[in-house]
Amino acid sequence: MSVIAEYCPEIKVTVVDVNKDKINSWNNMDCSKLPVYEKGLDLLIKKNRNKNLFFTTDIKKSISEADIVFISVNTPTKKRGLGAGYASDLKWIESSARMVSEFACGHTIVVEKSTVPVRTAELIKKILTNSINNDSNKTFSVLSSPEFLAEGTAIKDLENPDRVLIGGEDQSAIKQLSFLYQKWIPKEKIFVTNLWSSELSKLTANAFLAQRISSINAISSLCEPTGADIKEVAKAIGADKRIGEKFLNAGPGFGGSCFQKDLLNIIYLCRYYGLEEVANYWEQVVLLNEWQKKRISKLIIESFFGTVAFKKLVILGFAFKSNTNDTRESPAIAISKELIENGANLYIHDPQVSEVQLNDILNEENFISNRDNCEGSWTYTNDLDRAFRNADAIIIITEWSEYLNINWSEMSKNMRQPAWVFDTRGIINESDLFGTNINFWKVGKGFLESS
Ligand code: UDX
Repeated sequence: MSVIAEYCPEIKVTVVDVNKDKINSWNNMDCSKLPVYEKGLDLLIKKNRNKNLFFTTDIKKSISEADIVFISVNTPTKKRGLGAGYASDLKWIESSARMVSEFACGHTIVVEKSTVPVRTAELIKKILTNSINNDSNKTFSVLSSPEFLAEGTAIKDLENPDRVLIGGEDQSAIKQLSFLYQKWIPKEKIFVTNLWSSELSKLTANAFLAQRISSINAISSLCEPTGADIKEVAKAIGADKRIGEKFLNAGPGFGGSCFQKDLLNIIYLCRYYGLEEVANYWEQVVLLNEWQKKRISKLIIESFFGTVAFKKLVILGFAFKSNTNDTRESPAIAISKELIENGANLYIHDPQVSEVQLNDILNEENFISNRDNCEGSWTYTNDLDRAFRNADAIIIITEWSEYLNINWSEMSKNMRQPAWVFDTRGIINESDLFGTNINFWKVGKGFLESS
């Protein structure tokens, strides 16, 4: 919404939420304290807030004044009830649609921005139609325009998208939304489709991207025992234009709020339509991702002859990828939990993830924090020197640029022998460890000599 505000100064953009604390933080005068860390977002907010960009909890007034309402709420995987573990929970979509139906005045275009299962627009339409029956002054058009931005590059992706989708039936509504996007996006990048194609395209894009990562991670595990190097393999296959070079970095498994959720959603939809084989096909992408995380924690434990109890292990990076403070579905969570359960004392470092976030995630399991020398604990640290002191192993989970500049020969002097580095992102050059006493494992390359 801040990008729309930036490129459409004549349009008033209002962001509403029922959560007062959230809105207060978006209104925080200190833009370094916004609830989301995203490069460039603070500048856009600073520039446009209270000019044509507003954050408020006054939902009634904002909806009644709006010509276009974007529904951008969370659609997490259902934890309970029908479809639990697979289907998306649409309760926030439903309650947003009910608010729009109650407070809207005149004609309102309702745009589905959240990633939703196919045919969710039908649910929104039904809720809106009910209110039309009670009030003939109200009319609605429902469009789907899913968001393809990736975290960490969100502003850049929004400013220069590969494409924008508008799915719908009402040509006049499509024209109005398209007109808005055309303020900064070339017309040829705006694809108009039917509602269901638009909804399904978003799920499919994420499923294909996730599949690519599971594919390269599967091959990384084959490289390790065979002596092939995943980087060389990725470069070789990526040069084939039909495959392309992007999204071929092997790692600890994909995380983030979208890939797993959207895959589970597709699996659920396939089963709903009786497409068991198709569901099983996509489910394998999720299972491979789980397996990649498990095999990494297992090989760490096996490197210590089967026990990491009382070992000081340093986790470098807890966000699901670099340049974000988002930890949702981060591979660091599963790997850390497994190591704590096996008795390790973890020291966790991340340039953007806070101790409060770690508390929320790790204390859910009643893991002990800030207690060394007890079997299974975690400690937050922003001091790499302290973390490395007497550490048994360093485990790189997020590819933050900070970790590229570590002076391994200096740092290794403070580590306990035998010392280990596990590079689950493949970002450390073997040559940087030459001459140290560090044992080294790198994803897609395996165990390497450091001397
Ligand atoms: C993704 C989609 O890219 C985006 O289009 C959609 O709108 C939302 O979901 P996001 O989750 O922000 O975006 O991050 P993305 O960059 O796609 O990375 C997802 C996960 O895959 C991360 O954990 C990342 O580390 C991992 N990844 C990505 C790899 O392991 N290897 C790669 O080569 C690329």
